[in-house]
This record gives sequence, C-alpha cells and structure tokens, in this order.
Amino acid sequence: MRKPFIAGNWKMNKTVDEAVAFVRQIRHGLNEIERVDSAVCPPFVALPAVADALRGTRIGVGAQTMHYAESGAYTGECAPAMLVPYCQYVILGHSERRAYYNETDEAVNRKIKAALAHGLTPIVCVGESLAQNEAGETHSFVSGQVRAAFADLSAAQATLCVVAYEPIWAIGTGKSANPTSAGNIIGLTVRGTLADLFGEDTAQQIRIQYGGSVSPENIADYMQHPDIDGALVGGASLKPSFVDLVRAAQ
Ligand code: PGA
Repeated sequence: MRKPFIAGNWKMNKTVDEAVAFVRQIRHGLNEIERVDSAVCPPFVALPAVADALRGTRIGVGAQTMHYAESGAYTGECAPAMLVPYCQYVILGHSERRAYYNETDEAVNRKIKAALAHGLTPIVCVGESLAQNEAGETHSFVSGQVRAAFADLSAAQATLCVVAYEPIWAIGTGKSANPTSAGNIIGLTVRGTLADLFGEDTAQQIRIQYGGSVSPENIADYMQHPDIDGALVGGASLKPSFVDLVRAAQ
C-alpha cells in the first residue's frame, strides 16, 4: 500500500521569520495526522530554521531545487550535501524551473541521481502545457519526460522517488484538472511508463502526486482516484488551512 503524501511547495514566499512563525502554527495539527505523510518545501534560506522548528515531528522538509554537482563554480546554486542536514526531500524538474531556468530533462536526470546518492527523496515533476494538452500530446510528452528523468536508474532507485504530475495549465491558475482525467494520466501515462521501464511491481510502489490548484475543498476528489497518492500543493500550502487539506487527504 502506498501511503498518501502531501508536500507544500512554497515557491518564493515567506521570509525566514514568516516561515518559522507559520510552521509553528501548523506543526501541531499536521503532526496529529498519521495516515498521510506531509512535508513543507520553503526557500533555501529558511531550510535550517524550518527544519529546526519541525525537529521531532513527523513533518518532512524539502528543498525546491538543487544542483547535481558536489560543489564548484555555480553561482546561486546549492549542492546536495548542503541540503542533507535539513531536508528529506527535494523537488526536481518543477515546470517553473524548466521554463524560467532552462532545467532540461538531462539535468533533471542528473539531479535525481545526485539526490539519491545523498539519501534525499526526489519529487520529480512532469506535466504538459496547455498547447500540448489541446493538441492531444499529453501522453507522448509526459511519458517522454518520465523516460528521460528516470534514464539509467535501477528499479530499486526508482522506488525511492516520488513523481508529481502537474499539468502546467493547472498550476496557480485555479483551473484544477478534472480528478478522473488527472488520475487516468497518472495511472496510464506516468505509472504505465514506470511499469514499462521498471516492471509493474516497481511501478505499483512509486508514489505519484497530482499538482495544480489543489485546495482543501478539492483534495478529497483527487484522493478518490486509486492512482493518485497525494498532492504537490503551491498556493494552498502557504495558509494555515494546509492542515485541513492534509487532513482531508486521509
Ligand atoms: P498551485 O501550484 O497549487 O499553486 O497550483 C502547484 C505547484 O506548482 O506545485
């Protein structure tokens, strides 16, 4: 059985002080929810303080991106070993990273390998644009992203990853995807491609989240679908009602 997993992607929101005040506000409520794994992914600078505020709870901490190199002349970047003291998770290949910072499939693949080598759980993001969706290219595009992200990984490594299917047109728009169609893409395209690559047993073990305008009101509809194992949540993870969202995912 795959345990549901809800992660909050804060993106570029909250100062360190705001981040700490917020997690103090939500940690008791989140910590009481045993049947769903939860995590928050604040900006780099807030990771140490947030990790400190969540120590001893069941709430995980994740980074929003990472470089694949061990160290070096990469201005503005963080290496895997820098995240390890504070994080269990790292979001990789988010569509905003792909769109604004030229994160390629190849880079995502290297980052997944680097994260795993350091014991971090990658949350690997895939998803099609509105144009691709309207052109009927969702399956081929998303399947290609999954193949590229997981290239050269073993089945054992793949089971250590989480995948987030996030249709780009649903991110931050309030236009959440229909739960049945999202669940079918997750099942047939994402899990189906993982099954092609690693076998059905492995694919059945990998947690796959939906992402895109998830809210406390609609999360239960997504969780109804047997292939949806949780959510990657942007806007709704910045508010205290994130606790209600995670609770409603049970
Ligand atoms: P959203 O963002 O929930 O604000 O749509 C989701 C994401 O980008 O992970």
